[in-house]
Amino acid sequence: MKVLVIGNGGREHALVWKLRQSKRVDQVYCAPGNGGICATAECVPAELRSLDSLLEAAHRIQPDLTVVGPEGPLALGIVDEFQRRGLRIFGPTAAAAKLESSKSFAKEFMYRQRIPTARYATCNSMDEARKNMDQFRAPIVVKADGLAAGKGVVIAKSREQALATASEMLSGKMLGEAGARVVLEEFLEGDELSFLVLSDGERVTPLVAAQDHKRVGDGDTGPNTGGMGAYSIPALVDDKMRDWLVNHVARPVVAGMREEGAEYRGILYCGLIMTARGPMVLEFNARFGDPETQPMVMRLNSDLLGAFIASSEGRVSDGDFRWSNDAAVTVVLASGGYPGAYETGKQIFGLEEADAMENVVVFHAGTTRRDGAYYTAGGRVLGVTARGADLPTAIERVYSACAKIRFDGMHYRKDIGARALKK
Ligand code: AMP
Ligand code: GLY
Repeated sequence: MKVLVIGNGGREHALVWKLRQSKRVDQVYCAPGNGGICATAECVPAELRSLDSLLEAAHRIQPDLTVVGPEGPLALGIVDEFQRRGLRIFGPTAAAAKLESSKSFAKEFMYRQRIPTARYATCNSMDEARKNMDQFRAPIVVKADGLAAGKGVVIAKSREQALATASEMLSGKMLGEAGARVVLEEFLEGDELSFLVLSDGERVTPLVAAQDHKRVGDGDTGPNTGGMGAYSIPALVDDKMRDWLVNHVARPVVAGMREEGAEYRGILYCGLIMTARGPMVLEFNARFGDPETQPMVMRLNSDLLGAFIASSEGRVSDGDFRWSNDAAVTVVLASGGYPGAYETGKQIFGLEEADAMENVVVFHAGTTRRDGAYYTAGGRVLGVTARGADLPTAIERVYSACAKIRFDGMHYRKDIGARALKK
């Protein structure tokens, strides 16, 4: 089979890496890919913001299956367009992906379906924001309704700051159209958890859970980023909690979407906070996580292609995934200045040495390749990933791999997985 993966980040490199191991896959293509992906798969140029350009890539390749990495093309309706043309594609339609592309839709849906989530108010104007603000005690979470590439959430320390943030979002200054509507939300405390399931529109089966590290600095300090690292270990979710999350979150979502006429097929990513009152949903994503996918695929023993096909053919079952009991950890190596302004085009050294280590894979995120050398091309540059029999082993391994790599301005967190170690 020919498989086309859409996207250009670390998540897509991890998907390509795993799909290439499938016996049933003859060739993996990626549109547009990055330096690391293009070294192992055939990359075709494409513009992720243009469905025409992605369709053109698919027409040229004629893939047997297309897998969509990022949310942008899903929200634009890539699945609808491909299906209309008879092209097999893995992921939700635009109507189903609204669970990610509109926070107000997701919140209203969760209330209708009685899925546990933080109290909220949707505001279309400053008048509404002022009127609703009294219901919340600081800190108050202010979210842009639309897609904002991880930059649409501000945790305001006071009502004044919350109003000022809402005002900036609503005026369009901060995030353009994505902020034309805002959601105010009660602040929740607890550990975050990324819990993903595969759905065929009716049945669901869980994947192993992972934990992301969103803040740029050690000890969860500094601004939010797209994710500075992640780990996945069996102890993150025990059998009882996994069943609870399937029965009280994942199944009700899939059943509710079906009932409301927008069947949900693909990966459903449930972003949770494990509060003292129990798990609460922070957000849904209509796709795999980045960087969570990197440690997750390292633990996957079974064939990823088979799972995607089961979803697209409406026969998802608990046998679709087999996992190892290993621990896996990903550390993101970022450009100097990220998540603020950063420079690109810095040569990367030590990649081969790190990649050659046993049980280590270096997934590329923002890189390009020229004349056999790699250069930085984004904020998150690499996702160094290691597996080990337990978390301490995986952590030690991943950091000794990180130490082999360098580029001008490189920085990374030194405490990925550290909180789980303490427990
Ligand atoms: P989201 O895009 O909704 O996942 O929000 C991005 C990040 O903001 C989350 O990963 C959390 O760290 C934080 N966050 C969002 N909503 C809340 C909330 N209600 N309470 C506490 N933290 C939140
Ligand atoms: N790691 C968070 C996300 O993929 O949205």
